[in-house]
Amino acid sequence: MLRNKKILLGVCGSIAAYKAAFLIRLLVKAGADVRVISTTSASDFISPLTLSTLSKNPVLTKFVKNENGEWNNHVELGLWADLMLIAPLSANTLGKMANGICDNLLLATYLSAKCPVMVTPAMDLDMYAHPSTQQNIKTIQSFGNMVIDAEDGELASGLSGPGRMAEPENILKHIDSYFSKSKSLVGKKVLITAGPTYEAIDPVRFVGNHSSGKMGYALAKTCLKLGAEVVLISGPSNEAITGNAALHLIKVQSAKEMLVAAEQHFTKADIGIMSAAVADYAPKTVANKKIKKSEDTLTIELTRNPDIAKTLGAKKRKDQLLIGFALETDNEEANAKKKLEAKNFDLIVLNSLQDEGAGFAHHTNKVTLITSKDSLALPLLSKDETADKIMDYILNLLNQ
Ligand code: PMT
Repeated sequence: MLRNKKILLGVCGSIAAYKAAFLIRLLVKAGADVRVISTTSASDFISPLTLSTLSKNPVLTKFVKNENGEWNNHVELGLWADLMLIAPLSANTLGKMANGICDNLLLATYLSAKCPVMVTPAMDLDMYAHPSTQQNIKTIQSFGNMVIDAEDGELASGLSGPGRMAEPENILKHIDSYFSKSKSLVGKKVLITAGPTYEAIDPVRFVGNHSSGKMGYALAKTCLKLGAEVVLISGPSNEAITGNAALHLIKVQSAKEMLVAAEQHFTKADIGIMSAAVADYAPKTVANKKIKKSEDTLTIELTRNPDIAKTLGAKKRKDQLLIGFALETDNEEANAKKKLEAKNFDLIVLNSLQDEGAGFAHHTNKVTLITSKDSLALPLLSKDETADKIMDYILNLLNQ
């Protein structure tokens, strides 16, 4: 479950900070990619050198990286991570988290993190039992943070009782169970449209666009990885997707064919993802023989194609999610928000042709995820990574 998971570990000043070293070893061994932020006082308990050697990444301690003023971007760290884990969580950092105080890199990253946050408190018996600590724990839980209770046992002060940081093996079990519960589409059916549509002019020519299908196929692969049953309705594309009993690949040419397949399969789907670049217009008539060159100009009358996403949006039930894409060249967010509403999407994935490496045919994409309440801009990523992030977001919507 932890293979390739990105874990951002925050270490606070506590005698339990030494356990962070064991925790990192376990996480790395389980295949996770670990980056560490250490508070200044944590560095008194365990050296950044130990943590960086074990995590195989530099340990971040301050906002400013070096004397040139280069900074550690706390927003990017929170976007990079699949999970932020604060272990050990000291009473001091807990109090600050509960009250929105932001006086170090760890807290700034916590405040801007879009990923889930899990914490493991560690403190002495009376500090842990203090009503303010217990109140702060409840407060951060009410913000949606996951708290692994402190364990009972011998404490550094010589006292005995609850307050010990959970053992690294137990923390690992919590993380594992979190990922297996929340990151699964087992038992779910996902309908994905991908690629372009080709609208025939005559037997050899068509109206089409530059979509390669890469984005839609990447989404289908991620959904299969997560255990979903996938219906992939694909326009003409050179992308390959390996045979899998959970995959139902339907190849179509035109928007009308895509609509028929989409309507047929949407009723049984839990999630619909409309990543296809559907031609908005098609030739009014299709010549049954190749049109010969005769005149200097040729006029082809086009008529509106059905809007597949809008059709599904109008039929969407309360137990279904419908996700759209918006490919824009200007006024991007405003146009995407209009489509979100008009097509009854729960989420729209905006990509702009103004962004280098985004949109058609690239191996990369740069998208912003927009709902009626939220907007999350992702950096330029491979289409596979983009698909993973989009599905993470959809899983959060599904589990709400
Ligand atoms: O295939 P790639 O080369 O990897 O490129 C990926 C992509 C750029 C095609 C993809 O990321 C993307 O943006 N897909 C949607 C492109 C598009 O048609 O956007 P739109 O803004 O015109 O449409 C809005 C939404 O309505 C989309 O979800 C679209 O699938 C849907 N639509 C549009 C028209 C129509 N007749 N039927 C539809 O279902």
